[in-house]
Amino acid sequence: MSTLPFPPTLEWLGDRLRLLDQTRLPAEETYLETRDVASLCDAIKRLVVRGAPAIGCAGAYGVLIAAREARANAGACGTAKPVNWRERFEDLCAQVETSRPTAVNLGWAVERCRARARALLEAGRPIDAIEAALEAEARAIHEEDKAMCEAIGRHGAGLLPRGQATLMTHCNAGALATGGSGTALAVMYAALAQGTKLAVFADETRPLLQGARLTAWELARAGIDVTVICDNMAASVMRARKPDAVIVGADRIAANGDTANKIGTYGLAILAKHHGVPFYVAAPSSTFDLSLADGSGIPIEERARTEISQPQGKLNVPENAGVYNPAFDVTPAELIAAIVTEKGVLRAPYREAIAQTVRP
Ligand code: MRU
Repeated sequence: MSTLPFPPTLEWLGDRLRLLDQTRLPAEETYLETRDVASLCDAIKRLVVRGAPAIGCAGAYGVLIAAREARANAGACGTAKPVNWRERFEDLCAQVETSRPTAVNLGWAVERCRARARALLEAGRPIDAIEAALEAEARAIHEEDKAMCEAIGRHGAGLLPRGQATLMTHCNAGALATGGSGTALAVMYAALAQGTKLAVFADETRPLLQGARLTAWELARAGIDVTVICDNMAASVMRARKPDAVIVGADRIAANGDTANKIGTYGLAILAKHHGVPFYVAAPSSTFDLSLADGSGIPIEERARTEISQPQGKLNVPENAGVYNPAFDVTPAELIAAIVTEKGVLRAPYREAIAQTVRP
């Protein structure tokens, strides 16, 4: 599993962050390098880097970039006045943290790194020592994410039939969406490594086509039989092909198990319930938000109308018609057969399972 045939989704190169530009896949494999907060935030907003754990990792490196940028703004290393550095640093961190609202991993990672910087500043450590600590913290978050993906894969593969399985997924919850091998797709990679032959139906995932462009690219490269379907084909495919499971990722999971994921996930969960197909969510601990009692408090990102009205620049919706473009929806916990985490497989009642397992 650790030798998947993909280039790294993101990579810290010592003075800059290199991102595989996901807006250009599958047509082009190109990279974007960022060393300032404005371009990193722009990359996160435009989905150059996307997927909850991946933007968490990008956010962690973003705090390091913020520290370096604050030093450059405040003056040479060692001569910067900590108060100026701190104001600038805090402002830049806030920009990174708010660049996308729904995936809790972003705020989680920024807060973890920022708290480390604040503690070192309070202890009177110089700025260059804080930067070294932030680099170590960001690399640690990235490494932990890889390990969580592997563990999710191992736990999730146990839910699938051995030998042969037909699956459905939505959006992209693979290597491209994490610092490692993925969440939902890590389960598939682990099953493949165990010798299970997989056939996967990937929803195209309107409007930005993460399923068609990214999941199909990943699975085909990994040697998995993948078939892209339009989102509105899911019901008839489910009835005709009776998949063994639906597996998706998550952007934020509330304390009761309600799960925000890419728009369309909720509908797929309802279809799975109707057809008696188990609906699994795969996500690391960093995707849980225990401050929210249920999914009603999850902030849902609304994106530009042009993603729907003018894909690839071609006018598809008349200018005088409204467009509604929420990027995520919330699947109620009662539709979820299990949540696969790096710590094991959680079953209902989720409130208890999550409280005991995720952050005991
Ligand atoms: O808008 P995106 O592409 O960032 O949305 C991503 C998803 O909804 C994924 O399913 C989710 O982040 C899980 S990633 C392992």
